[in-house]
Amino acid sequence: MRYLMEVYTDERAQQQRLEEDVRQGLTARQKSLPPKYFYDRAGSILFERITELPEYYPTRTESTLLGEIVPGLFRDFFPDEIVEIGSGSSEKTRRILDAVSAGGRTVRYVPLDVDRQTIESSAARLIRDYPALSVHAVVGDFERDLPHVRPPSGRRLALFLGSTIGNLDEPARRRLLAGVRGLLPDHRDRLLLGVDLVKDVKILEAAYDDSAGVTRDFNRNILHVINRGVDGNFHPEAFRHRAFYNAAAARIEMHLVADSAQHVKLGRLGLTIRFRPGEGIWTESSYKFTRESVESMLATAGLTLSEWHVDPSNYFALVLAAPA
Ligand code: SAH
Ligand code: TRP
Repeated sequence: MRYLMEVYTDERAQQQRLEEDVRQGLTARQKSLPPKYFYDRAGSILFERITELPEYYPTRTESTLLGEIVPGLFRDFFPDEIVEIGSGSSEKTRRILDAVSAGGRTVRYVPLDVDRQTIESSAARLIRDYPALSVHAVVGDFERDLPHVRPPSGRRLALFLGSTIGNLDEPARRRLLAGVRGLLPDHRDRLLLGVDLVKDVKILEAAYDDSAGVTRDFNRNILHVINRGVDGNFHPEAFRHRAFYNAAAARIEMHLVADSAQHVKLGRLGLTIRFRPGEGIWTESSYKFTRESVESMLATAGLTLSEWHVDPSNYFALVLAAPA
């Protein structure tokens, strides 16, 4: 069988979690929302547009870097299975799939993502384009569902690209990497991790506040998701997109700021949320790394850095990690 899909997002449990997350996030002193709620169908399409923006350097930098390192990578190590966490469109993964399919062997690809439609359409395209590939898609939350991923039948390469690791705070990163470590039972298994690097503030801030306003629309989309999910009456256009680099914490912060006082009803939760003028919702962080911070992060999860690849401008790194 070349295509199999498993869904770990039971709709009722997911609705319950959304309600808890929204209640907790919007009643706290610093209001916040978990970034996984960006990614409904519209959010995934907006994210794909972000990856093509002139200001958003990470996707193309990582993609070029992947193309360059993959031949060397597969000289020493040839995986039977590739598990990708937060796979999205799987577009960059093609740099890797091109190389494995040139080897002529059958390889299993296991993409895992919260957005079912994105995973379905990208899996269908991969099946069509790579005859030697079998796809076992998993719809789930990478913060909960990694233990559901079946043990590999041979050597495994795990992928966590796009600096999605940087969207988690420190304790969550540690938990996630420990979960990834659990996906690598053999000492010859590997993780390829994409991380965005600390750099000039202007370059960082432009990447999260583009001139065409796509990132603004992406940020506001979370309010549409919340309106739908808990019967809310947010006016997304009444919230300004604000993205800035917090150097002390080495992260971009994205907020949605109410420029005037707002009262928002969340029908399903029986709540009214009040915003003072200038008050915001913290919707996402995107942490930036150095080789040292990556090494210590890996160490906390029982992983060790085995290769470090950067582009010529030192913007983005691909890190090959091995079980310690
Ligand atoms: N890997 C792709 C996509 C990165 S965007 C790239 O590098 O371009 C982040 C992806 O992770 C999105 O596809 C989103 O749907 C997914 N995602 C975000 N939070 C998630 C979670 N908690 N569990 C599973 N997938 C998640
Ligand atoms: N992992 C990506 C990043 O932190 C996700 C992302 C890209 C993103 N652009 C964004 C998240 C804009 C929010 C807004 O770069």
